[in-house]
Amino acid sequence: MKIIFLGAPGAGKGTQAEIVSERFGIPTISTGAIIRQAVKEGTPTGIAAKTYIDNGALVPDDVVVSIIQERLAAPDCKNGFILDGFPRTVPQAEALERMGIRPDAVISLEVDDEVIVSRMSGRRVCGECGATYHVVSLPPKREGACDKCGSALTVRRDDKPEVVCDRLRVYHETTEPLKGFYASLGLLLSVRGADSVGETTARTLRALGVKNA
Ligand code: AP5
Repeated sequence: MKIIFLGAPGAGKGTQAEIVSERFGIPTISTGAIIRQAVKEGTPTGIAAKTYIDNGALVPDDVVVSIIQERLAAPDCKNGFILDGFPRTVPQAEALERMGIRPDAVISLEVDDEVIVSRMSGRRVCGECGATYHVVSLPPKREGACDKCGSALTVRRDDKPEVVCDRLRVYHETTEPLKGFYASLGLLLSVRGADSVGETTARTLRALGVKNA
């Protein structure tokens, strides 16, 4: 199963991808997480990407395509994978096609911008393992600490309100046209993402053909 999660920043792609990944036993590949790790480690890719990510802009297509090409060649991807945050431009989707990779389904999580802005202000992430929480909708068991590894939770640098507005603009201008791209291939599945995490998961699984979800 090869699944793509599309959606605005904060639409819940990472949250749903992690749940579906466990359910189907396939890895989630998040370009955002890979790039943030590269920034943290100070690799050449990370140094080149830092200014883009901090300003809510997209990292250039050639950089992201080569990251994905390398990751998809890993053995754990041979039975399928979930792409969270890739492709994000039509040229990236075309690059995926040129790699001979056609997804089985493209889930587009639909959430209004006002809901996104409020979600982002409450997001907390683990600086060590990258697990994501929300102060209201998905709080950790112990305030400020990751349930999985116990490390401190932080606010992502690009979750500042002014950067969130820029990310939403980039999404509408550059990423949203992908819906038309995948609709024309008959692969687009639109899923309402504005309700609770559990309801969104149930809708996502039903869209993927899972019975009794
Ligand atoms: P990336 O990390 O991919 O960020 P994003 O797409 O902006 O998405 P987010 O991670 O912010 O949100 P999400 O949809 O995963 O939501 P989440 O589940 O966390 O990319 C960051 C940057 O990297 C980009 O800006 C760009 O610079 C660069 N980049 C990455 N990929 C690239 C590419 N392909 N090309 C070029 N550049 C690229 O949920 C958000 C919050 O809401 C959480 O707190 C969560 O707990 C909560 N929540 C989730 N679902 C619900 C719900 N149903 N109800 C209530 N709360 C919820």
